[in-house]
Amino acid sequence: MPDFSVVGVWRSCVCNMNTFLYISCCFIRGIKRMSTPASAKDRRPHSKARCQTYPGSSEQRQSVPDNKVPWCVEFPEYDPPEYTAPVVKKGPVWADPGDLGSATIRFNKRDGLVNRVSFTGDYDLKNNTPQNPSGRTGLKGRGLLGKWGPNHAADPIVTRWRREDGEVLIDESSKKPILQFVAIMRADSGEWAIPGGMVDAGERVSLTLKREFGEEALNTLQHTGADRKILEEQIASLFTKGDEIYKGYVDDPRNTDNAWMETVAVNFHDDEGTGVARLPLQAGDDAGSVRWMNVSSALKLYASHEEFLRKTAERRGAHW
Ligand code: BGC
Repeated sequence: MPDFSVVGVWRSCVCNMNTFLYISCCFIRGIKRMSTPASAKDRRPHSKARCQTYPGSSEQRQSVPDNKVPWCVEFPEYDPPEYTAPVVKKGPVWADPGDLGSATIRFNKRDGLVNRVSFTGDYDLKNNTPQNPSGRTGLKGRGLLGKWGPNHAADPIVTRWRREDGEVLIDESSKKPILQFVAIMRADSGEWAIPGGMVDAGERVSLTLKREFGEEALNTLQHTGADRKILEEQIASLFTKGDEIYKGYVDDPRNTDNAWMETVAVNFHDDEGTGVARLPLQAGDDAGSVRWMNVSSALKLYASHEEFLRKTAERRGAHW
């Protein structure tokens, strides 16, 4: 028998509203998933951004079950700890002020020299604090990230064909040519990665891509005079034409509920193997070591970099 009392009608409205919100939320997530690359769909949401211990600290994230990652799914017990790394709290030039109450930050906009626009569209603000567009991470604050909201990076994927005596090598199983990319070992986590880095305030992404590659993989900062000029010319000539591989949110272990990484990954390919492919690699800046690495599904890389390499192999018709 339906309950037509005021309380009964109210309860049924609230219940229906919750059901409606849940269904809408799943629907929107479904649409977003349809536009996500295949192998990314199989990954758990925030698989890196929910790592139990926050990088470079002993801070523990509150554990968030897979189905409770989206903000629209209720999680009344959610009360994550707050953590901002000491290096960020000290207020270096690349970091925002800690107190958002008195700060005049223009979120979702180009704010002076700082790009606070997200590739994912406008993000929500709660008490003037940005909310991670990909959902819960089990931690509030900024962690190791300087900016509240999006922190923009750029990733140069520099590739060549693997050759022996001048001949391109073909993988026996896939019958496809083997691609190699320049990989660096990150000094902070010891993981192999693309030599990417943060976009400096006011810097164009195209410049970040060149600068980071030069600094980390060719150690340009330590070269002087004619030597440095040759390196810079080689980089400039390869970097005139790139193929954009990815642009968007990154599942990075440093992400929090209020600060996250986004990147643009671009492939620069030396098809003939006569330009950058021949340059002597030398680790510099925050890279521990550097090398040409074969591209294949066996790669285990930092953050979302495996996914970027998979897409690059697909784009080039290379073995994966
Ligand atoms: C790294 C990039 C990476 C980005 C997001 C940056 O710190 O340098 O390589 O894609 O973070 O994970």
